[in-house]
Amino acid sequence: MTKTNSMNVIITKDYDEMSLRAAQIMADAINETPNGCFGFATGSTPVGMYKALIDMHLAGKVDFSGLTTFNLDEYYPIQKDNDQSYDFFMRDNLFNHVNLDKSRMNIPNGETDDPVACCRAYEQAIEACGGIEMQLLGLGLNGHIGFNEPTAEGFSRATNLVDLTDSTIQANKRFFETEADVPKKAMTMGIKTIMHAKKVLMIVSGASKAEIVNTLINGPITPLVPASVLQLHHDVTIVLDKDAASAL
Ligand code: F6R
Repeated sequence: MTKTNSMNVIITKDYDEMSLRAAQIMADAINETPNGCFGFATGSTPVGMYKALIDMHLAGKVDFSGLTTFNLDEYYPIQKDNDQSYDFFMRDNLFNHVNLDKSRMNIPNGETDDPVACCRAYEQAIEACGGIEMQLLGLGLNGHIGFNEPTAEGFSRATNLVDLTDSTIQANKRFFETEADVPKKAMTMGIKTIMHAKKVLMIVSGASKAEIVNTLINGPITPLVPASVLQLHHDVTIVLDKDAASAL
């Protein structure tokens, strides 16, 4: 594979402008393909964008009624009604506030007894829907996308069950009562799944991510920086706030 150099990098002045800009890009894509499959992400970065999408929906500017959604990942094991599950997060931050038909909302099932089969079925469901029109991504401090952590292994994985790294457990323990409550595994779309999306929209905010943003855009393509693989995707838009863009 060769670099496509087609990353569209948009620098905005702050978190609010980043959120609005990204919401507009996603809303335009939804309006273009109102019956398509769209990929969503959790984390702190998309919260403002989801608020903006809800506002646009309430103003009649975007309609979720025809969409099928696929989320990037989910902890394993976790109950859906745990307020730290990504299932709970998506309902709370977006899906309960728009007219999405919840029977077409897909998030890996943290309650399953057979996570490996669940991951396989998830990948098949994405293929069966004809591929993801636009996949939203955040960016981990170590360059992870989804729960695809730095590894020497390459970019070939589809949706799979992964062990969380100690750094991710440490980063996420603030959301749980004790460190022992943080699930030790997750189900995540693989890099291969993400790269099959027709369009990728990444949002990144804050100075702490400035270095990794520069590495992902300008550094070598390596599985040690999982997001660097996006240099090979033909249609990537990265919306940054000023701080996240400060090392470019
Ligand atoms: C979320 C996900 C993660 C986050 C990343 C950034 O579904 O898969 O890769 O996008 O960890 O998280 P925040 O936005 O909290 O900095």
